[in-house]
Amino acid sequence: MTPSLLRRSILVTALTCLGAAACGSSSANSNPGGSTGGSAGDSGGGGLGGDTGGVVVDGRLAEKYSEFFPVGAAVSAWHLENTASILEEHFNHLAAENAMKAGLVHPAEDTFNWDEADAIADFARERGMTMTGHTLLWHRQQPSWMFQGLTAEDPDSIEILKERLKSHIEAMVERYGDVVTNWDVVNEAISDDGSKVYRDEGSDWYRIFGSHEYIYWAFHYAKEALEAQEPGSSAGKLYYNDYNITLKVDQILEMLAWLEEEKGLKIDGVGDQAHYRIDWPPTSEISRAYDKILAAGYKLKVSELDVSLYNDYPSGSFEPAPEVEFTPALEAQQAARYGALFELFRSYAPDLTSVTVWGITDDRTWLDNEPVSGRNDHPLLWNDDKQPKEALRAILDF
Ligand code: GLA
Repeated sequence: MTPSLLRRSILVTALTCLGAAACGSSSANSNPGGSTGGSAGDSGGGGLGGDTGGVVVDGRLAEKYSEFFPVGAAVSAWHLENTASILEEHFNHLAAENAMKAGLVHPAEDTFNWDEADAIADFARERGMTMTGHTLLWHRQQPSWMFQGLTAEDPDSIEILKERLKSHIEAMVERYGDVVTNWDVVNEAISDDGSKVYRDEGSDWYRIFGSHEYIYWAFHYAKEALEAQEPGSSAGKLYYNDYNITLKVDQILEMLAWLEEEKGLKIDGVGDQAHYRIDWPPTSEISRAYDKILAAGYKLKVSELDVSLYNDYPSGSFEPAPEVEFTPALEAQQAARYGALFELFRSYAPDLTSVTVWGITDDRTWLDNEPVSGRNDHPLLWNDDKQPKEALRAILDF
């Protein structure tokens, strides 16, 4: 860091500390916002530069976006321990990266594994943050007991599966209904094959029901469970969540019309996972999809944002590519992309109800292992050393 940058860093550190509930260490390389609950493992949070790179940022994300939408991050127990100060400084919304998925939280019919999900929910509650409930029904990361002993398209089996789904949803809503402001009730039920609407590929839900009817039941049970807690409390909370939304928007709208017109159940909105690439999709295509969803009378949220440096993901072909070097030029290109995306998101507020980034630091991203294991990606707002990236600066600069 140059002396002038270091001076600016110390100045911003001092200014940021003015607004913090409690400021941590005063060393120039420590978390400037201070942590009210960071653990010993926290390696510096929103540090401003230092030996490990990183840029000077001005402002705090959630505060800066307070008039637009909550800004969230998907987290695991690891993040609570290692990035607590970043979370406290920049975010006012959380999603559990995995801990609330049925396969993890509900591994056997009579067994719940609440520990990690509770830790995340308590972290949010203690800091006045809200949460996304991710996710009540998905064809992946499901526990095997859910489908055990069931026969495809058999009426008795369908009833048993409905009961299992209902009790799972009731348990989740009862435990986290106080802190969750939007539920990903159903995740990824639309087919990747544009010639049909509903995913039958790899879905035990579709296989047992013999149709997409399960989608209705998931929303119905979620709504009932929320209403049972407090009448009216389901309002605004029921979302459908998916990826490649620019490609799937018409299929999604067909599903929403089926729910609304044939099943009499209007949900609240659509989550755009937004696992984007540095060069795809163009913001004009995102806008086109968002406009269609709004015109049909639904809200939007951005639920799993990251910006991959690689270009083979959305094709689904998952061809290995040589590992890219994260050069300053590429970092600038990614920052411009993040800046353009957030400019677009701001233009949709308040119909766009939250923006959640799928992770915090580049050393912990699912994209290091997918589509190709061991290929380093850099899709997030803090770098491998937990220092702010140009992308963070870009989205704070408006
Ligand atoms: C999907 C799911 C998320 C997560 C990502 C990959 O987008 O909705 O829960 O598993 O894939 O990490």
